[in-house]
Amino acid sequence: MEFALHGKKLLVTGGTRGIGRGIVLAAARAGADVLTCYRQESEAVDTLTAALKETAGDHHVVRADVGEIAEVDRLVQEAADRFGQLHGVVNNAGVISHIPFGELPADEWSRIIDTNLTAAYRVIHQALPLLGAGSSVVNVGSRGAAAGIPLRAHYTAAKAAMTGLTRSLAKELGPRGVRVNVVAPGVIETEAFDAMPAERAAGLRATYAQKTALARLGTVDELAGPVLFLLSEHSAYITGETLNVDGGI
Ligand SMILES: NC(=O)c1ccc[n+]([C@@H]2O[C@H](COP(=O)([O-])OP(=O)(O)OC[C@H]3O[C@@H](n4cnc5c(N)ncnc54)[C@H](OP(=O)(O)O)[C@@H]3O)[C@@H](O)[C@H]2O)c1
Repeated sequence: MEFALHGKKLLVTGGTRGIGRGIVLAAARAGADVLTCYRQESEAVDTLTAALKETAGDHHVVRADVGEIAEVDRLVQEAADRFGQLHGVVNNAGVISHIPFGELPADEWSRIIDTNLTAAYRVIHQALPLLGAGSSVVNVGSRGAAAGIPLRAHYTAAKAAMTGLTRSLAKELGPRGVRVNVVAPGVIETEAFDAMPAERAAGLRATYAQKTALARLGTVDELAGPVLFLLSEHSAYITGETLNVDGGI
């Protein structure tokens, strides 16, 4: 599936691994110039940088922890310095943990809220002067936010709040031509599956073969496609929407 993003300037948070990496590479191949960030040095940073060098366009991979307001501000300033404007923002960087609610410490609650939710507020807030008419913000939520998931109250609270942020901003920014939407993934098979014990990965695949209408997990490309659609002019009359990309869970 091809969406033309020629000449569009995009900021995608958390682009070195998983879904974000898929979005960055798909957008760059669709003709966009992409600036993305990560939190920690890894082989993934080097391989993404190398892949983007092979892809036409003006791409940048920078270190910035979006859980820190000052680092978000620096990240968006870098986008401003390099691109002068933005046609699209994807708030993808996210973190999760699995903790019984009775044992959930306040600092872990804050870490999850800061990285998944406050980062999105701050990225959009700082990027606002760069977003002109026709631009698009995509917030990567989670299908689990609407369903609820045991041991992830903090994560689903953050992702559910993203929907409220999106709905309100769609109304507030719509008159100036800025669209804001959520893409809510179900379970997407990222390279994290390669890192887990084979038995656990097989167990997850079997579980979601039962739980989804399509009888399988999703792929990174199947998530990147809907994000590119929402960044593109093909979705020019869609805002405030949550697009579930979950195989019919
Ligand atoms: N995978 C799924 O099945 C699934 C389902 C529902 C929702 N989601 C959502 O989709 C998004 C991507 O998930 P994923 O599974 O692709 O995650 P992932 O594989 O863990 O990758 C996360 C990416 O975000 C970066 N990142 C994490 N914390 C960051 C921070 N504080 N500052 C800057 N970058 C940071 C990571 O960089 P580092 O390597 O530097 O940490 C990495 O590039 C998240 O918002 C997640 O909640 C995923």
